[in-house]
Amino acid sequence: MADDGLEPLLAEQVSYYRARAPEYFDGTLDFPGMDEIEAALDAFAPAGDVLELACGPGTWTPRLLDHAATVTAVDAAPEMLAIARDRVRDRGQDHRVRFVLADLFEWRPDRRYDVVFFGFWLSHVPLERFADFWKLVDDGLEPGGRVFFADDAYREPDELIEGEASSTIRRRLNDGSAYRAVKVPHQALELEARLAVHGWEFTVTPTEGPFYWGTGGRAATRRAGSPS
Ligand SMILES: C[S@@+](CC[C@H](N)C(=O)[O-])C[C@H]1O[C@@H](n2cnc3c(N)ncnc32)[C@H](O)[C@@H]1O
Repeated sequence: MADDGLEPLLAEQVSYYRARAPEYFDGTLDFPGMDEIEAALDAFAPAGDVLELACGPGTWTPRLLDHAATVTAVDAAPEMLAIARDRVRDRGQDHRVRFVLADLFEWRPDRRYDVVFFGFWLSHVPLERFADFWKLVDDGLEPGGRVFFADDAYREPDELIEGEASSTIRRRLNDGSAYRAVKVPHQALELEARLAVHGWEFTVTPTEGPFYWGTGGRAATRRAGSPS
């Protein structure tokens, strides 16, 4: 897609998630595999100071805080952040979280973190912005820092308004209102190779269902001199 069509699409994607916040947990994908991701994240043990990108309604924030000293959680939807804030407050974890309202296609971290985490976000980053997004991750990661992400490649046939080859989809809310969004259907090996091109070394593991998770960091050749 030409970049001039991308800005309105990315803005519409934020509008979709702002409107979807109150019904977000109704629409989560009910497939096997999520428990594998949860177990993988616990085994990864995101300790230290963690940067969570596109935190949404705090789906993963409490679990991150089971391991982390602090979490900085960023999202562009204030409605999502309000729900996330309540979730961590209910668990008495709020004093260890900083929420940041920001557009990840503009925002840059003001410090580095031990771990960068993002759940169900990478598939919403258009390939045209893939390199910029991973530059953000690089800017936010300590030397030797670790990254964990989870996502899915699941797209309903009626979402594919521009055909299967396009990453522009249409999603509907419970009231039927429609929004365009980005959904890149990454596959594990393809994604590992794409990340390697950008200087990252990841293992991407598909689950039993439509999900996958990835762990990794800067490639060995870059580690000595990182951050660049
Ligand atoms: C699929 S949800 C994932 C939420 C949560 N991480 C999870 O796993 O349930 C995608 C999130 O990305 C956020 N988002 C969309 N566009 C964004 C942008 N440009 N900058 C920051 N967050 C954005 C949405 O508000 C939404 O909370």
